[in-house]
Amino acid sequence: MNILGIESSCDETAIAVVKDGRKVLVNTIASSLKQHQDFGGVVPEIAAREHVKVIIPLVKKSLEDANLVWNDVDAIAVTVGPGLVGSLIIGYSTAHVLAEVFQKPLIAVNHIAGHIYSNWLYPVDMQEIPSQPELPCLVLTVSGGHNELVLLNDDHDFTVLGETIDDAAGEAFDKVSRILGLGFPGGPAISKKAEQGNPDAFDFPRALLKGKEHRYDFSFSGLKTAVLYKVKEFEELSEQDVCDIAASFQEAVCDVMVKKLMRAFDDNPHVKEIHLAGGVSANQRLRELLVSELQKRNLTIACRHPLNIRYCTDNAAMIAGAAYFMKDAGVFKVNPGLGLESSM
Ligand code: KG4
Ligand code: ZN
Repeated sequence: MNILGIESSCDETAIAVVKDGRKVLVNTIASSLKQHQDFGGVVPEIAAREHVKVIIPLVKKSLEDANLVWNDVDAIAVTVGPGLVGSLIIGYSTAHVLAEVFQKPLIAVNHIAGHIYSNWLYPVDMQEIPSQPELPCLVLTVSGGHNELVLLNDDHDFTVLGETIDDAAGEAFDKVSRILGLGFPGGPAISKKAEQGNPDAFDFPRALLKGKEHRYDFSFSGLKTAVLYKVKEFEELSEQDVCDIAASFQEAVCDVMVKKLMRAFDDNPHVKEIHLAGGVSANQRLRELLVSELQKRNLTIACRHPLNIRYCTDNAAMIAGAAYFMKDAGVFKVNPGLGLESSM
């Protein structure tokens, strides 16, 4: 079954076709990122205008690139939230019109459910097909706009264990990057500087929120403020200072995320796998820390992150993938109407 996915919840206009929920036949992304860079974050108005310009040409190009015609497409899946409303409406209206014109079922997908299913994807040219993830699994899905710790019990049967009570981890990367003058998006910029820095140079706070109520929740705003105050202590930052602050900040964020994952794992020892997903799952240090924590504990549990960096950040393959698995879960919504409802 080939599903055409459409994702437009933020600044990326993304189109993909995925076969049977896993094999990515084509995955195209047009980003208005450059136009937001001077503002230090995504400007909703600019993002929406760019979606309008590129979305239809991108659908055509994606089908051509994959050598597909509309007859090869069995259904259309589209992100219905969470995200920027102006951006979502453009993706949704496009999907709705295409579904009407080409007489295809339309499936509404939650953006975070999409990120979760990014660990099921593999590229069309991959020689050895990776094993299918086993459920139940624990998923840490972390981006600029969201930050959740989820127990995926069964297909589309999610329990959100925790989320951020202030900034998402990606948002903290973006804000600290701005403080250090490293530009937007902050994650890749900070991790590049961190490679040359000392993660122990500064002892930044780790908010572990031990109380029962926030056991699995996250808080990164105190850390961001601590970085701001540290930077203010310097008359001028040398290149090495920037690298050391970046490395110490990254270490603190990753340390908290791995500790929270381990806390959730200790409380749910029946899970079969641990997954990282979302834009921040592209972070190498986060991946390394998780693996080394599992090794320290002599745990051989399977641990995954998306196979391609383009499946970590926002993309449409994950939306098409999540839609496929909704079928078995009995939450396959056909032609859901204009209400921007979500599956989660
Ligand atoms: O999933 P995504 O594309 O968009 C949202 O749904 O928010 O994630 C974008 C976020 C940005 O905040 C960006 O700074 C962060 O992911 N990010 C990273 C890395 N690559 C992207 N954060 C840490 N390390 C990275 N290598
Ligand atoms: Zn996202």
